[in-house]
Amino acid sequence: MNFHVMTLFPDQVSAFLGESITGRAIGNGLIKVNTYNIRDYTTEKHGRTDDYPYGGGSGMLMQAQPVYDCYRAVEKNIGRKPRVLYMSPQGKTFTQSMAEELAKEDDLVLLCGHYEGIDERALELIGCENVSIGDYVLTGGEMPAVVIIDAVSRLIPGVLHGEDSATFETFHDGLLEYPQYSRPEVFEGLRVPEILLSGNHGKVDEWRREQSIKRTLELRPELIDESKFSKKELKYYHKLLDEKSGL
Ligand code: ADE
Repeated sequence: MNFHVMTLFPDQVSAFLGESITGRAIGNGLIKVNTYNIRDYTTEKHGRTDDYPYGGGSGMLMQAQPVYDCYRAVEKNIGRKPRVLYMSPQGKTFTQSMAEELAKEDDLVLLCGHYEGIDERALELIGCENVSIGDYVLTGGEMPAVVIIDAVSRLIPGVLHGEDSATFETFHDGLLEYPQYSRPEVFEGLRVPEILLSGNHGKVDEWRREQSIKRTLELRPELIDESKFSKKELKYYHKLLDEKSGL
């Protein structure tokens, strides 16, 4: 899969994605991250890319010309009109299911704004989908772009090897992941739950599923969908609910 990041700070993006699992995926050719420096496309002789907003107001705005010309270069490179995500706190909130959907694309363009944003005409001409990574305001779209690329990349077959694949479970079936333990058996007086040492895989699976339900109820109760539970799980879930309400 090819990611194309339009930014004023390409090094921020490359520095993060060049390490660890995404770095390995780039090395293996499973993903490609092309960065485009918007500044390279300005026709302004001093290399300016920002200006004051018409109508007044605080801060500076990224000008339409360098952003749009940069986009046209990206489009030309891809050879067709790609899907373009504009990183914006005003956008639709990024979720795991959005990551799953984006992972089906061959090319994805991520446009990073800075300062007070981008001249609306550039966004209109490009035809962007606005995407937010949460209800807070960052200084720029580079971190959101990296978050999205990371979340999408790990869904691409081959990117995660065996050692990392358990993390895939966090939102699997809409539940949070069960607690996990590694050696030693006792750490600072805390023992690994006995069931995990039993070698009984059926019991271990059952315990893990129950722990997922318990944890989701404690931390993210809004994620629970009872219709996904087996009869046994439903019974366990109702027992937890009764305990919670002090019955
Ligand atoms: N740019 C600034 N804040 C952002 C956010 N929360 N999500 C996406 N892009 C942003």
